[in-house]
Amino acid sequence: MKGNIVVGQSGGPTAVINSSVAGVYAAAKKLGVKKIYGMVHGIEGFLEDKMIDLAEYLDDETGIELLKRTPSAFLGSCRFKMPKIEGHEEVYEKIFEIMEKHDIECLFYAGGNDSMDTVKMLSDYAAAHNKPQRFMGVPKTIDNDLPVTDHCPGYGSAAKYIATSLKEIIRDNSSFGAKKPTICIVEIMGRNAGWLTAAAALAKGDDCEGCDAIYLPEKVFDIDQFVADVKDLAERKSSVVIAVSEGVKVADGRYVCEIGREVAVDAFGHKQMSGTAVMLAEKIAAETGLKTRAIEFSTLQRAATHLASLTDINEAFQVGHDAVMAAEEGKTGMMITLDRNGEDPYQCGTSAYDIHAIANVERKVPDEWITADGKGLTEGYEKYARPLIMGELRPLFVNGTPRHLVRK
Ligand code: F6P
Repeated sequence: MKGNIVVGQSGGPTAVINSSVAGVYAAAKKLGVKKIYGMVHGIEGFLEDKMIDLAEYLDDETGIELLKRTPSAFLGSCRFKMPKIEGHEEVYEKIFEIMEKHDIECLFYAGGNDSMDTVKMLSDYAAAHNKPQRFMGVPKTIDNDLPVTDHCPGYGSAAKYIATSLKEIIRDNSSFGAKKPTICIVEIMGRNAGWLTAAAALAKGDDCEGCDAIYLPEKVFDIDQFVADVKDLAERKSSVVIAVSEGVKVADGRYVCEIGREVAVDAFGHKQMSGTAVMLAEKIAAETGLKTRAIEFSTLQRAATHLASLTDINEAFQVGHDAVMAAEEGKTGMMITLDRNGEDPYQCGTSAYDIHAIANVERKVPDEWITADGKGLTEGYEKYARPLIMGELRPLFVNGTPRHLVRK
């Protein structure tokens, strides 16, 4: 690689998206790349020429180690939809102009489905206009819904947080042994794919009875049936803990969280989801008179770097690293995938895959991993997911809280 490179972060952050930046940096450094830039707020910031020189933050071991332990997108993120090339050439010309100005040969973009669309559009434009610059996707999403790759960096850590927090909630909710149980409803992110909510199944073990029901968006949600399910559980149990996806939909296609209220929509047409647990808890309280509690994991589940999975941190680093290696071989218009090649012990390699088969495609939880009653996960899911949450990396504590690396 003769020129410089730039790396950007896009979409909802994860606990390990910064490890991918660390991986890009480490590989580029090894190859002797002169300038390793970071875009500030993804492609949106890049369009305004907003970049930092990563060497200023990472040129020693402490920088990389701190970055790996820092939640959120260190570089800043965006939810920016690239316009169609036709009729919006000026946006693309601007990006290539900025790349040329800084002698940037390769652009690396860490993100989910929408962000991979950016990689696709830019590499398509380069191909159509005989531009030499290369573009590589680095997978990231707590939603775990990118196709082709076995799983997505970010998922394992969010899943670990969910399983751990649910174990703690289940213990807490069981404390009172009351005749009438408290009904605790926990809302988990994941929009249209239930991968993250499925991680609630990982709470179950020798020391924990697990959740009483898990509702994924892959199955139509029937509110009356839900109330009936809860009444039945309440008669038999002294504690009820239920996991529900933010993305559950009723038969007419509406999200539960949008029933009876307006929700905001982002640049990609995604509805702002929140409030499912509150809505269901109020419904249960009104219909049964039972005490309810609604818990929305919200930002916590993707920002909990203090509980990140070491497997996830290492894989996030690896995909960033291998994206640079693939670009060095001349590859472009591709995303690095994680390819599982061993179960016992768990092992994963990487390869590069055509971005056209990945961008904008959502992978759902397969039917065979959802139990017949639609309210739980099979052992097949557990076998798939358990290795992804293994291992820990201790934060560096200063004054009692974890130390983070923050952009100046
Ligand atoms: O795509 C990642 C994700 O965390 C989804 O699980 C969630 O629905 C969405 O982002 C939340 O978006 P925002 O951060 O814009 O509220």
